[in-house]
Amino acid sequence: MLDREKLFRKGLVDIKAYVPGKPMEDVMRELGLTEVVKLASNENPLGPSPKALAAMRESLDSVNYYPDGACLALTQRLAEKLDVDPQGIIFANGEDNIISLISKAFLNEGEEMIMADPSFSSFEISTRAVGGKVIKVPIRSDFITDLEAMAAAVTPQTKLIFLCNPNNPTGTINTRPQVEAFLEGLPDHVLVVLDEAYKEFVEDPDYPEGLDYVRSGKNVLVTRTFSKVYGLAGIRVGFAVGHPDFIGGLKRIREAFATNRLAQIAALAALDDDEFLQRVVAVNKEGREYFYKEFDRLGLPYVKSQTNYVMVDTKKDIRQVFLHLQREGVIVRPAYIWDMPTWARVSVGTMEENKKFIQALKKVLA
Ligand SMILES: Cc1ncc(COP(=O)(O)O)c(C=O)c1O
Repeated sequence: MLDREKLFRKGLVDIKAYVPGKPMEDVMRELGLTEVVKLASNENPLGPSPKALAAMRESLDSVNYYPDGACLALTQRLAEKLDVDPQGIIFANGEDNIISLISKAFLNEGEEMIMADPSFSSFEISTRAVGGKVIKVPIRSDFITDLEAMAAAVTPQTKLIFLCNPNNPTGTINTRPQVEAFLEGLPDHVLVVLDEAYKEFVEDPDYPEGLDYVRSGKNVLVTRTFSKVYGLAGIRVGFAVGHPDFIGGLKRIREAFATNRLAQIAALAALDDDEFLQRVVAVNKEGREYFYKEFDRLGLPYVKSQTNYVMVDTKKDIRQVFLHLQREGVIVRPAYIWDMPTWARVSVGTMEENKKFIQALKKVLA
């Protein structure tokens, strides 16, 4: 350990930092390309919600004022829309910020957090940052999160379970009967966080409504984001819904102005942009099906997805495929970071972007 690193909290230097999708600007600069398609971070290929964009444009000249720290107008509108108690909602600077707030608020040093492996890496980072212990439970061979094994991993030291449904990076869901049986069997010293970042893309009728578990008084928090279906990843808005007692605890340690002024204005407008939401979901479905058809033609295994990304097995060293795809102007997420050395996670883009990716993939694999 370096001298300066000794000053850090115990365990901090062992934390692996979050690896974001490679930015387009970096690839363009490094490879001298003028056009690059980024299908690496599950962003919205149709841009931001037009209603959100218009509302932000109208409000630009008010950014000299602090935002409303409590997000009152946005909270009220969301509570109506979701039919939940406004006291049971908290907004923050993206869902990522909510995840780290939850770890800070609930985990004592040494307490255990259970997550699927692979799943969203923020669960691990936020747990380690507060001295919690990370328990990873491998997914099943059909790529579905193994709730029976996760339940079996619960000990008297377990405090949190992060259940990503649909799961990132696999794109699979746990069904209502699976989640219900899981929740029923848990002791009451355990809090389950249902991460529903990709909820709007799910088609499976057996997908559970996480808010029902909040309404029925279970130890459950539901977390969601405006980054995906509403196209607001760059402005950062995420929220949690839960019992007002849980949410009250989170509010004690939230930064005073965690959700910025433009973000609140954008999210409020986006909530009423149903037309955009429907278009995004339709374009995504078409793109997903196009990917399946092309992967079938190429004889590449893939995981059927309920989200805006698909995992595909290129059957070649993904580090090499990733580099070659970049030279063709396409950025995907190489899955070696999840110990899947021949797989890639590919976000669904516009049809033009999807075709560019498939063309590049064919060239690279040939
Ligand atoms: C499963 C999951 N949860 C949470 C987030 C974070 O969302 P946000 O952009 O609101 O921080 C992401 C972002 O990719 C995600 O994939």
